[in-house]
Amino acid sequence: MLGKGPVESFHRAHPSSARPMTDDAPTRDTLGRSLHDLRISVTDRCNFRCRYCMPAEEFGPGHEFLPRSEILSFEEIVRLSGVARSLGVRKLRLTGGEPLLRRGIADLVAMLAAIDGIDDLALTTNGVLLAHHAEALSLAGLSRVSVSLDALDPSTFSRMNGVGAKVDRVLAGIRTAVAFGLPVKVNCVVQRGVNEDQILPLANWAREEGLTLRFIEFMDVGETNHWVPDQVVTADEILETLRREFDLRAVDRAHPSETALRWRHADRPAEIGIIASISRPFCRDCSRFRLSADGQLFTCLFASHGHDLRPLLRGGADDEMVRRMIASLWGLRDDRYSEIRGSAPTHKAEMSYLGG
Ligand code: GTP
Ligand code: 5AD
Ligand code: SF4
Ligand code: SF4
Repeated sequence: MLGKGPVESFHRAHPSSARPMTDDAPTRDTLGRSLHDLRISVTDRCNFRCRYCMPAEEFGPGHEFLPRSEILSFEEIVRLSGVARSLGVRKLRLTGGEPLLRRGIADLVAMLAAIDGIDDLALTTNGVLLAHHAEALSLAGLSRVSVSLDALDPSTFSRMNGVGAKVDRVLAGIRTAVAFGLPVKVNCVVQRGVNEDQILPLANWAREEGLTLRFIEFMDVGETNHWVPDQVVTADEILETLRREFDLRAVDRAHPSETALRWRHADRPAEIGIIASISRPFCRDCSRFRLSADGQLFTCLFASHGHDLRPLLRGGADDEMVRRMIASLWGLRDDRYSEIRGSAPTHKAEMSYLGG
């Protein structure tokens, strides 16, 4: 099968990709950024319908999710992750949709944890099924979890998730994860007129619990979430609110490609971050590739389409061919959507599909 179809046409289109890539020469894109993270969406389904992500009227009973046959198997995901590792990836994150809906997710975690050289294996979840999965995930070798929590107030939380899910279940999920030794970061998307009154309650709670909490500016991902600039509560506004109550000390980035601006409480070990993709874009050091559940490799969260890796994976290509393809896609990358927002004409893919 080798050398047929898509593999052959890839070689015709990218003759220079025959040059072998080595770990000594990090893979750089056109803006000089190196590849460090792979975010893997394992399903486009979710048991929530957060309005800023999957509004119920757009993702109703008639919505067509990916059919089973289109979705990458665990073996395919692990193979791609191993190849990505050889190109410099050190950090893997499982996302969705809601990754805990993927059957056998802890088995996938165990398979990925066995890849040599992966320093960080994280998972992003809405937390509602976390209490059930935390022990297996921890035993499988997961490094940590990021749990979305937009409000502590039960009715705000219930309204925002679009399905009436109870905040207590997410809090139980967080507690269970901590009990099984999984470090937890909590993510809150802030929307004006919806949950900005939750900033201080969440910050007080996270501080007491010793958890890292990150506020995320509402972003214009996808085409269905009715984003308007007025609904963005900016990093400056969030920080001003926090500073009214807390004594915060700035913390340096641990890695240049980190998404969050960071502070720690002067009197507690807990940290607070703000992910300010709108008011302070961080494209300059963006080191992230995203893999959708059906094997499309995206070079940006705001891209309109990805590059289908399934013809290679399912067409008999060997690892070196897959490696050259991935290296070539990174080498051609010039995305910096958050920096050029407004002048970027695309039909953006949905975040629930391409991974958060
Ligand atoms: P850590 O590894 O814990 O620092 O996590 P992270 O910075 O990768 O953040 P996480 O995976 O928890 O993502 C939090 C949120 O940040 C995501 O859900 C997105 O909303 C946003 N985000 C993550 N990566 C990007 C990115 O590359 N671009 C933009 N614009 N937003 C991002
Ligand atoms: N803006 C900002 N963050 C978003 N997320 C989903 N949609 C948006 C958006 N429009 C975040 C969720 C979760 C992660 C998967 O992505 O809050 O933390
Ligand atoms: Fe589901 Fe997360 Fe999107 Fe909410 S933000 S609908 S929990 S994928
Ligand atoms: Fe990276 Fe695109 Fe996000 Fe910029 S907008 S940080 S290039 S994913």
